[in-house]
Amino acid sequence: MKDKLKYYAEYTEKKLKEYNKLDNEIINQKTLIDAMNYSLEAGGKRIRPVLVYAFCEACGCNFEKVTAPACAIEMIHTFSLIHDDLPAMDNDDFRRGKPSCHKQFGEAEAILAGDALALLPFEVIANDDRLASEEKVKIISVLAGASGRCGMVGGQIIDMENEKRNNVDEENLRNMYKGKTGALISASCVMGCIGAGADDFHIRRASEYAYNLGLAFQIIDDILDVTSTTDVLGKPVGSDAEENKVTFVTLYGVEKAKEIAEDITGKALDILDDFENNVFLKELTKMLLTRNK
Ligand code: IPE
Ligand code: IPE
Ligand code: MG
Ligand code: MG
Ligand code: MG
Repeated sequence: MKDKLKYYAEYTEKKLKEYNKLDNEIINQKTLIDAMNYSLEAGGKRIRPVLVYAFCEACGCNFEKVTAPACAIEMIHTFSLIHDDLPAMDNDDFRRGKPSCHKQFGEAEAILAGDALALLPFEVIANDDRLASEEKVKIISVLAGASGRCGMVGGQIIDMENEKRNNVDEENLRNMYKGKTGALISASCVMGCIGAGADDFHIRRASEYAYNLGLAFQIIDDILDVTSTTDVLGKPVGSDAEENKVTFVTLYGVEKAKEIAEDITGKALDILDDFENNVFLKELTKMLLTRNK
């Protein structure tokens, strides 16, 4: 499992470089391209592209078919992290083991690098030569929907507004996590299925799996924010408390939050029984529950 994970991650990193290389045509935008690559290359876990590939293969198709959507989702995710770290949002100075994009390049540059990383994905998918036109339209629709007002950005606004609220409960958090974290994870799994020509049943089950995985993933992220170290995580610990965030840890404590994440991971694992080649996905799902970063 670890070998495959590494292979998928390295393949993605190579392709990301190709999609965002600095050629003569954009030499005047060198700062922008450098800032985008700085954050793209900073070495995240690459979980979202891995899910795109894994669902494509679980539905019986070679993973290379979905190279474009896999790289696209990592670009959108990286854009979300660059903006999430800005002083106006979580105000975090470290990300993926290096100074955050705005610390390295300046705020305006980081905002623009995020903007460009939000748009390049759609160009990459539209210009891809592996996917059929109908597949591209479906994939673009899924990716735009998951990224925008009803998905990641929608979750982020609830997160920001919650900082000023004193009545944040579990239902609110589940809804917010569904947007800020679940939506991109769902898009990853669904795009893998679409690329493989999967039927509606499998697309629906992939999305249900992903929302469970995304919820557990964000709860673990909340736990690591209080139990880990900045060195291991590559981003500041204690950031949630500093920004006055209500999380599953502030609501229930670390132990109970862990139990909830385990329970939700169990639901995700059960859904994977609906997929034939699910061995890698099952191991990945379990690994994400016990991850230390
Ligand atoms: C961090 O995502 C933001 C959340 C949605 C919790 P990841 O934990 O996937 O971050 P990277 O990509 O590995 O840096
Ligand atoms: C992540 O939430 C959601 C995003 C859309 C980036 P967090 O704010 O908890 O992510 P980290 O902990 O900064 O990675
Ligand atoms: Mg945040
Ligand atoms: Mg943050
Ligand atoms: Mg966090």
